[in-house]
Amino acid sequence: MRAMICERYGPPEVLKVKEVNKPKPLDNEVRIKIHATTVTSGDARVRGLNVPAGFGFIMRLVLGISGPRQPVLGTEMAGVVESVGRDVRQFKAGDSVFAFTDFAMGCHAEYRCMPEKGAIALKPTNLTHDEAAALSFGGMTALDFFNRAKIQRGERVLINGASGAVGTAAVQLARHFGAEVTGVCSTANVELVRSLGAVHVIDYTKEDFTQNSETYDIIIDTVGTAPFSRSKASLKDGGRLLMLLAGLPDMLQAPWLSLTTKKKVVAGPAATRVEDLQCLAELAESGEFKPVIDRRYPFEQIAEAYRYVETGHKKGNVVIVLASSV
Ligand SMILES: NC(=O)c1ccc[n+]([C@@H]2O[C@H](COP(=O)([O-])OP(=O)(O)OC[C@H]3O[C@@H](n4cnc5c(N)ncnc54)[C@H](OP(=O)(O)O)[C@@H]3O)[C@@H](O)[C@H]2O)c1
Repeated sequence: MRAMICERYGPPEVLKVKEVNKPKPLDNEVRIKIHATTVTSGDARVRGLNVPAGFGFIMRLVLGISGPRQPVLGTEMAGVVESVGRDVRQFKAGDSVFAFTDFAMGCHAEYRCMPEKGAIALKPTNLTHDEAAALSFGGMTALDFFNRAKIQRGERVLINGASGAVGTAAVQLARHFGAEVTGVCSTANVELVRSLGAVHVIDYTKEDFTQNSETYDIIIDTVGTAPFSRSKASLKDGGRLLMLLAGLPDMLQAPWLSLTTKKKVVAGPAATRVEDLQCLAELAESGEFKPVIDRRYPFEQIAEAYRYVETGHKKGNVVIVLASSV
């Protein structure tokens, strides 16, 4: 099968299409023929080893010293189960599914095996494979951070970076939880963010949300421009700051701030739970959650897709199409 291989950290040019062995499913695994995958901000971070402050050495230990130990990047996929191991009960050949592989990656390829008890679920029938491939990275991240913040109906939630993959998911999920949503984005994305369910939209090119005297129960910062020092005055007592891009110093400081102020800081990697994946599938099926797709690229043009993702200005998700998308 064809796979996009990254043997060393570096610019998009390090990626090469190679023929590799088609994976064989273990007894508890399914083999998925991938119809669509994505290039996420996370993939770009791994390929370029561009990680938050203080994590460079730790990430080399986790991912590989001079290049990723798993040379096939990509964490999201949607496709069709092609074969199953003999102990698999939940899925059968022909099922349309979507899945999230997190740090195990391996989705930038024509096939990927997944344990049936892993983060894999039936594809919502109302989504194409392109759409289903983009359900999980932003959705699982936003869901995990909102769960850690114990989001409540009626709370005021501000989403800084409301037009990215996590932001577009966070707007829709916060609205699903019954929150009053304020999205922060640039002029070009105001209508998009409003259409996803934000009641208030702040254009960051015209207004600084930390200076307008409004206060929130939850602020989720997907950009890295709203650390505690800037956003504390915008948090109510009991408010929670969700820092997606916390560096090591921020993470070490978070428990201390939570102890010594009336506000809480939530940071660190999002957890992967199959229940969250199933929750996203149900919300998609009911029409409450739909991944936003900015651009689609053919598999051979993944390097181009990375270049676009690395501008930091995509709207929602960038999808890579491998096979016909139904
Ligand atoms: N902790 C975790 O487990 C975890 C999990 C997933 C992701 N992350 C991190 O979260 C971050 C966001 O991920 P993502 O995939 O959502 O990124 P993304 O899709 O690349 O976000 C791009 C969006 O950010 C907006 N943006 C850029 N500058 C902005 C600013 N100053 N104010 C408001 N919006 C701005 C852009 O809008 P404009 O074009 O309008 O500027 C664009 O729509 C990444 O750094 C990623 O590494 C962390």
